[in-house]
Amino acid sequence: MKLSNFLIPLVAIAPTVLASRRISRGPDVSLQLRINSPATDYPAYDDSRIQHFHDKVLLARMKEYFISFVAGNFTGMYDLQADDFHITDIPLAIVRADRNQWLGANSGFSSLMTDVKVQAISIDGGSGPCEFGIMENVVWFTLAVDPPEEAKPGLPPGIKKGDTAGMIMLSTIWWNEEGKVKRELEYGKLLWPGFDIDAFKTW
Ligand SMILES: *[C@@H]1O[C@H](CO)[C@@H](O)[C@H](O)[C@H]1NC(C)=O
Repeated sequence: MKLSNFLIPLVAIAPTVLASRRISRGPDVSLQLRINSPATDYPAYDDSRIQHFHDKVLLARMKEYFISFVAGNFTGMYDLQADDFHITDIPLAIVRADRNQWLGANSGFSSLMTDVKVQAISIDGGSGPCEFGIMENVVWFTLAVDPPEEAKPGLPPGIKKGDTAGMIMLSTIWWNEEGKVKRELEYGKLLWPGFDIDAFKTW
């Protein structure tokens, strides 16, 4: 079985990389403009808690990448990745998928999830060549369909079409010399009852 064929069904059990065609308006201004834009100009990506961070290029890079993600702009994410990009996504049980494998998996999510939102909690690292940024964040999504049987173990018990769930994530992203994403690690877990984003307070 080709890995790419294997990855597609995984989208069902993997709410991390979600896409929504309903929120299809992606970024259409330059990175430089976004560096200076207010935190609230794209509500599906809320980075208001990390605005104080000193590396504004890192903030802008994260914003560009995560806005592509919440917008379901798979090709936009692909464009921001280096040729030798690899990603490990623990909630999806994906280990070292390459750029094209990831594009295939990512594209498959759109029919399952909608209304994807990201709340950044904390950030550290840098934007320099071969540096990495690390960001705690919560990803919210709404099921666009009733979950297939094989997806249920990875989702909250009893969740059905139209229900919203969230995951707490730690995203680590390495940049190459040109500022493209060359490596990504996504570690995360479904939110638990009583989850409180303010308990993570670092701002
Ligand atoms: C998708 O993302 C890319 C890279 O950020 C951007 O250039 C493009 O305008 C986006 N497309 C849409 C339809 O939003």
